[in-house]
Amino acid sequence: MENPLSPELLSQYRREGCVCVPGFLTDDEANSLRASCRRLVEEMDPTQHTPTIFSTSDHNQSRSSYFVDSGDKVHFFFEPEALDENSKLKVDKHRSLNKIGHALHWLVPEFKKVSFSTKMKAVARQLRFVSPAVVQSMYIFKQPGIGGEVVPHKDCTFLSTEPQSCVGFWFALEDVTLENGCLWYSPGSHNNPTSRRFIRNPDETGDLTCFTAPPDPDDPTKYIPIPVPKGTLVLINGQVDHKSKKNTSPNSRHIYTFHVIERHDTTWDPRNWLQPTPEMPFTGLYENEP
Ligand code: FE2
Repeated sequence: MENPLSPELLSQYRREGCVCVPGFLTDDEANSLRASCRRLVEEMDPTQHTPTIFSTSDHNQSRSSYFVDSGDKVHFFFEPEALDENSKLKVDKHRSLNKIGHALHWLVPEFKKVSFSTKMKAVARQLRFVSPAVVQSMYIFKQPGIGGEVVPHKDCTFLSTEPQSCVGFWFALEDVTLENGCLWYSPGSHNNPTSRRFIRNPDETGDLTCFTAPPDPDDPTKYIPIPVPKGTLVLINGQVDHKSKKNTSPNSRHIYTFHVIERHDTTWDPRNWLQPTPEMPFTGLYENEP
């Protein structure tokens, strides 16, 4: 396959830590992921899933094993504003979810087909991955009106290798705008490493997960927004600072994302919240076919 990234895009990625590739997914591919997700939600019985909210500014999920057990499963995480005080849904279930994670790429055929496609392998080769593995995937809804903000972070805080190698593959499944909560990133911030990690809490009497340090100092003026059309791939270096705002618009902002790490000459941090399991060892991008 021809190289999906032009030399200009590759050098922008190296310089800024983030780059957009418009038209990377076909309309058919984007629509197949949306339809597959809709079926998952249709079949999901909210009462059968611990109503677990997902919020990057409030860490209620850290007390529930539903989150830490989701690495090899398809688990559903709700928006705080979708639940009443008794954790019952107060909106239609199709408008209630923050995200689904974290093994869509392995367990759901439509997601597997896209994630392990020839063009993903080609991008990874262009990024000079020797032995890449897909370690997690998420479908993020950013629901109209209630889709929560994602506070500034580097993905390597959550998916750390030594040396750092994580790259986020992020796909717009509909048009992503300033109004519906597009990504913002800080160009060049991948050159500023962080020691902050999100880990399984070694103190078994406390929360199941915790951060090893407070957030790094952040300068909100450094961020630039990246509104992108449906089908765009956004590559996000694991060390680049990024965030997104609350969706206050009447339109959803559905995206699919998975994260790739290098296995060659690296070590996976044994403290990471996410660990491979017998059911889902981290799956090689080059070795696996859809
Ligand atoms: Fe992120």
